[in-house]
Amino acid sequence: MAVGIFDSGLGGLTVLEAVQKRLPEVPFVYLGDNANAPYGVRGADDVHALTEAAVKRLWAEGCDLVILACNTASAAALRRMQEAGVPEGKRVLGVFVPLIEALTERNWGDNSPPREVAVTHVALFATPATVSSRAFQRELAFRAIGVDVEAQACGGIVDAIEEGDMILAEALVRSHVDALRRKMPDPQAAILGCTHYPLVEDVFRAALGPDVAVYSQANLVAESLADYLTRRPGMMGSGTESRFLTTGDARRVSDRATQFMRREVRFEPL
Ligand code: DGL
Repeated sequence: MAVGIFDSGLGGLTVLEAVQKRLPEVPFVYLGDNANAPYGVRGADDVHALTEAAVKRLWAEGCDLVILACNTASAAALRRMQEAGVPEGKRVLGVFVPLIEALTERNWGDNSPPREVAVTHVALFATPATVSSRAFQRELAFRAIGVDVEAQACGGIVDAIEEGDMILAEALVRSHVDALRRKMPDPQAAILGCTHYPLVEDVFRAALGPDVAVYSQANLVAESLADYLTRRPGMMGSGTESRFLTTGDARRVSDRATQFMRREVRFEPL
């Protein structure tokens, strides 16, 4: 039994950490497509093709259930892959839905009509590809009415994190928060809509100030996954070992991952 976790690079490790803490008995196979990151500046077809190849690889590793721990991949590829049909016994899930459920105070599978919710001014920080897909606004519109979403395409942050240049990443966060505030001076809530951003969450929180509620995905996804596996224990797959796979330079990726996770992480080359 193993569950696959996919990201374009290192950001999905923020999700992996939370799901491992929530489900310590479940092995996870992590795949980072570091050779092709960042996805956020690629076109939708390109992201779809890369994501589909990675998900097929994780299915082949014995992970019947694969979580796209990447908003860009979820925005560009998830619906398309699900609509095209996944093989018998396999599943692929994304990271938007748990976040939107938390924001709209809904439970999993609540398909009642959209309704008014407590937050009406929401700032969305995400990659350029996620912002231009409008996938977040679409999923939100199924569940809530009257929510004004201002999206900020945060160019450069993922590249800086992948390169380990945290000073640049932090400076970019501050400048993207400033840019958002020029469009929406008083957001009530901010969505960190990229799994790399929890690595600079403190900087987002400091720049946004104490009055803005910050929604970050990792713990929300972990709770949803725990709930899903309780209802569908058969989806745990046949793999038995936790592993880390990368399309990039395994040594470099391992060093960065070890730094971010604050524990030894060894990636294997694909
Ligand atoms: N962690 C990915 C996400 O959540 C980053 C995408 C990228 O590679 O630009 O969107």
